[in-house]
Amino acid sequence: MDKDSMSDILLDVRELDVSFDTHTGKLHAVNKISYAVREGEVMGLVGESGSGKTVSSYSILGLLKPPAVINGGRVLYKGRDILGLSNKEAAAIRGREISMIFQNPMSCFDPVFTIGSQMTETVLANDKTASKAEAAARSIDMLREVSIRNPGQLMRRYSYELSGGMLQRVMIAMALLCKPKLLIADEPTTALDVTIQAAIIQILKKLQKQHNMAMLYITHNFGIVAEICDRVSVMCGGYIVEQGSTDDIFYSSAHPYTQLLMKMVPRMDTPLSEPLPYIEGLPSDPTALGEGCVFCTRCPYSRDICREKKPPEVSLAPGHTASCWLRADNASAESGRPSV
Ligand SMILES: Nc1ncnc2c1ncn2[C@@H]1O[C@H](COP(=O)(O)OP(=O)(O)O)[C@@H](O)[C@H]1O
Ligand SMILES: [Mg+2]
Repeated sequence: MDKDSMSDILLDVRELDVSFDTHTGKLHAVNKISYAVREGEVMGLVGESGSGKTVSSYSILGLLKPPAVINGGRVLYKGRDILGLSNKEAAAIRGREISMIFQNPMSCFDPVFTIGSQMTETVLANDKTASKAEAAARSIDMLREVSIRNPGQLMRRYSYELSGGMLQRVMIAMALLCKPKLLIADEPTTALDVTIQAAIIQILKKLQKQHNMAMLYITHNFGIVAEICDRVSVMCGGYIVEQGSTDDIFYSSAHPYTQLLMKMVPRMDTPLSEPLPYIEGLPSDPTALGEGCVFCTRCPYSRDICREKKPPEVSLAPGHTASCWLRADNASAESGRPSV
């Protein structure tokens, strides 16, 4: 990374390492991962289920609870380490600076209060100078921004009265009320059907550009990555195995895991009779990771060295890296890029 691009880094995650003390042993959920998100850019954190995406993002906002243990690393936000802040300090950053949206919006709302009272409370909690009427007006404006047609009416309703797609829009509006610099979106459309999913992605894309907001977009779906991300970090079994621009990943992906994940994107024109593609074998057991590559038991190119030693991170082009022995040794590099 050159000096200029270093200067606009908003979030800098360095060697973040998280495990869980479980009754079957230590589960290493996140292994010394590093990535950066620049101002106004969308970074995709991509990987199959269980690869450590949620755990790593919860660490950023101090949302992890025991038995989770942060073993090490730093999370620099605007240059300040926010890992291990007190609850009060973390709360001051949540909402105003960094906001988060989740797969299940229902958990973000209290069924006892109307949507309107929860939104206005959020504004008032973060802006002591705002009056109640101003807070309500700002909430209505924000609901309009997420394409809700009758925002005044919606303010009087309760979360349980709304459909999943509608509630997801309201959660986005709520997360953006205090104009955060960074939005962490953890699979926010996974529970929705395809057309609503597409509408939500378009809304997020529009708001991200309009507010020049940075986004950490967590997903397992490369179709969404293509739609919204500028850069991508690919996670497998708690490790980041490849990083690059969205073009690097789509046109010259270097890790067999990335290539297989990309093949798993269901297409609209796939006949229903065709089974969905999947990566054969089970993801490695995170309580029993050996010395080798995290993907070696499922990799079609696996060799002895892959089982014996962790692959080094290899730089393939500026900003594009992959941790794979196929890329590390020249002999196999001569035979060209593996294609799976
Ligand atoms: N509270 C917990 N206790 C024990 N293990 C957990 C807990 N939460 C997550 N894990 C484990 O951490 C790993 C990463 O999980 P997660 O970050 O939720 O994956 P992803 O979001 O990529 O699907 C998984 O192996 C998961 O089983
Ligand atoms: Mg998750």
